[in-house]
Amino acid sequence: MKIIEIISQSEKPELYEKGTSFMWTDEHISKQLLNIHLNADIDLGSRKKSTIVKTANWILDTQKEKGKLNILDLGCGPGLYAEIFAEKGHCITGVDISKNSIEYAKKSAKDKKFDTNYVNSNYLEINLESDKYDLVVLIYTDLGVLIPSERDKLLKMIYRVLKKGGTFIFDVLKDKDIENKTSPKTWEANNSGFWKESPYLALSESFLYKEEKVILFQHNIIGTAGNIETYRFWTHFFSQNDVCKMLETHNFIDIHFREDILPKGDMWNGDNVIFTMTSK
Ligand SMILES: C[S@@+](CC[C@H](N)C(=O)[O-])C[C@H]1O[C@@H](n2cnc3c(N)ncnc32)[C@H](O)[C@@H]1O
Repeated sequence: MKIIEIISQSEKPELYEKGTSFMWTDEHISKQLLNIHLNADIDLGSRKKSTIVKTANWILDTQKEKGKLNILDLGCGPGLYAEIFAEKGHCITGVDISKNSIEYAKKSAKDKKFDTNYVNSNYLEINLESDKYDLVVLIYTDLGVLIPSERDKLLKMIYRVLKKGGTFIFDVLKDKDIENKTSPKTWEANNSGFWKESPYLALSESFLYKEEKVILFQHNIIGTAGNIETYRFWTHFFSQNDVCKMLETHNFIDIHFREDILPKGDMWNGDNVIFTMTSK
């Protein structure tokens, strides 16, 4: 085992220094993730089914004056929200970088005879039609794991593809007590598990960048050949004021917040999460 390399990979990196690996498209991990998304009773990958239903109904309720909607679901995963929207007769485009999730979503929509358009693509690169959507959603605090340049690129794209008067709804993690939101160092040795099909040692830790309101959740995965794969999640925390400033830079208007959509729970739930509704 390359101990010196492991020690160096475990030191606090410069803000936004990239890891070596991307979780969502890894062939083995994305299969594990799909099963996790589809587990209706846990808040991992996707929220619990009961929370998804409540959130999706609230989202549609905010739009009930508008009739049939053209909805874009960014990072749609296996289509858990998209199907609730489709069931109510709305027209859905779902975009996700995970081939497994999109294949599942396509098959499920076909079986249920939903008229949905699922696209397996990176939402930071996709070329979508301008002024097309009544509603864009980005759910499960996904905006907050983008580094600022990616976040700006995505917000610019969302603004462009919304119709005038269209709505963007998303959630972010709240900056309240950020010091207490880091995770302790943990390790896992496994013959086969979430990170790899073959034996691995996983060293997980987190680092706080207090001034920037960022926590890096980092996982160093060491395989049998001693190779290290580093997964980094640069996770941003926001106040309502931070969200306003970010949206106003991109010309969004009419910004509203809700902190009571999710049930109480861990740091990804309850009033640790700010839902935002804004318009073009
Ligand atoms: C936390 S999951 C949330 C999935 C879904 N929104 C939900 O709540 O059920 C994040 C999703 O975003 C997708 N994703 C991550 N980065 C992406 C990117 N750059 N482009 C498209 N999809 C991405 C992942 O594959 C994953 O399905």
